[in-house]
Amino acid sequence: MERRAFFKGIAAAAAAAPLLPDVAAGLAERLGTLGQDVASASNERALWQRLRREFRLHPGLVHLNCGSIGATPRVVTDALTAYLAELEGNPLANTWGGLGNEMEIVRAKGAEFIGAELDEIALTRNTTEGMNHVASGLDLQPGDEVLTTNHEHGGGMVCWQHLARTRGVVVRYIKMPNPVRDAAQILQLVEDHLTPRTRVCSFCHIDTITGLQMPLAAIAALTRPRDILLVCDGAQAPGMLDVDVKALGVDTYASSSHKWMLAPKGTGLLYIRKEVQDRVRPVFTYSGYNVYSASSGTRNVPQIVAHGVAMEFHNTIGRPRIEARCRQLSTYARQRLAEIPQLTPITPTQRELSSGIVSFSLTSGSHSEVVAALQKHDIFLKPAQGTYAYVENAGVPKENYNAIRISTHIFNDETDIDRAVEALQQVLG
Ligand SMILES: Cc1ncc(COP(=O)(O)O)c(C=O)c1O
Repeated sequence: MERRAFFKGIAAAAAAAPLLPDVAAGLAERLGTLGQDVASASNERALWQRLRREFRLHPGLVHLNCGSIGATPRVVTDALTAYLAELEGNPLANTWGGLGNEMEIVRAKGAEFIGAELDEIALTRNTTEGMNHVASGLDLQPGDEVLTTNHEHGGGMVCWQHLARTRGVVVRYIKMPNPVRDAAQILQLVEDHLTPRTRVCSFCHIDTITGLQMPLAAIAALTRPRDILLVCDGAQAPGMLDVDVKALGVDTYASSSHKWMLAPKGTGLLYIRKEVQDRVRPVFTYSGYNVYSASSGTRNVPQIVAHGVAMEFHNTIGRPRIEARCRQLSTYARQRLAEIPQLTPITPTQRELSSGIVSFSLTSGSHSEVVAALQKHDIFLKPAQGTYAYVENAGVPKENYNAIRISTHIFNDETDIDRAVEALQQVLG
């Protein structure tokens, strides 16, 4: 079936679908009230306190690791439960019709959320899946080169190592400076590593170890004229930064919605720019020869439809406002943790190179012991160990940063950071 026809069919079915009137009305009312509360909050403090009540986090728990997994707001978990109950009332009708048709609406919301067009977006389970779709879908030949860094996460890197093993593709690694001085330094490193055989540059949007934001638009200005595919691992950005894939200039962008987008676990988005879709062959095929649709077999419909509610939640508060809050808390964390002499920040300070993640290297103690000790105080953050073992296996020296990473979202506030500082002071002596 032609791709265009396939999408038209789905859109028509979605338009005719019953929209579970009770659930839809309940959701619209709750999001409407939330929107009014956001608009009428007397000040920022009152606003964030109101929003904190939207989350189910245990009282007293300090969750400073949204970069690993987010907390999903009540309105989304309640929708998920309601959708599941509805689906199980008539599984057949709601998997391939009814509620199932709403997955197409979620795809449209996903496209809008990151600035893409509908037929550039697939609903995936996570970043790892999206990155593997792209890597396995490319027709790379022995000796073709993929340029990446020694700071990538396995979910964005092992897909390339698999191609090295199975197809003779050559993976080259930029050794990231630490700390990064400025964007020009990164651009120079990228340019220095390009060769006539470079076919792909694969970089994360936000560095999982340091929280560095890669200057993707400037990198795209190097790769696009050379016809090099710019592949981005966006696991750590949508829902934290107000992402616009067109402005970033990337060719593909894979993300996990269960992190900063606060969506149910096992949800993600994959963007493939229209102009490069003929270069990325589909991996999962079912009811259409493409990866950009619902053609990937039976899906978890309630979870995907609730993913759409998570995006509505963000849109109700405002994506720029959420980005500003994530950054504000991360700046506060940087300032407060700088009071502890055993901690040195390894995240750049420039706005364009930073994000809602800030990491610190430890001059004494081990990151895993420190993180475990903090958990005893009900405070959760992440040890940032440096280069992953699979890079080391590929012959690139492992760097151990012995660092801790703090990621802050709207379910956090300044008191969470104060508690972490107090506990760190105790633990580090
Ligand atoms: C940069 C980056 N890429 C990929 C992943 C993997 O994400 P997922 O397990 O949701 O595929 C992570 C997870 O932390 C990450 O930080």
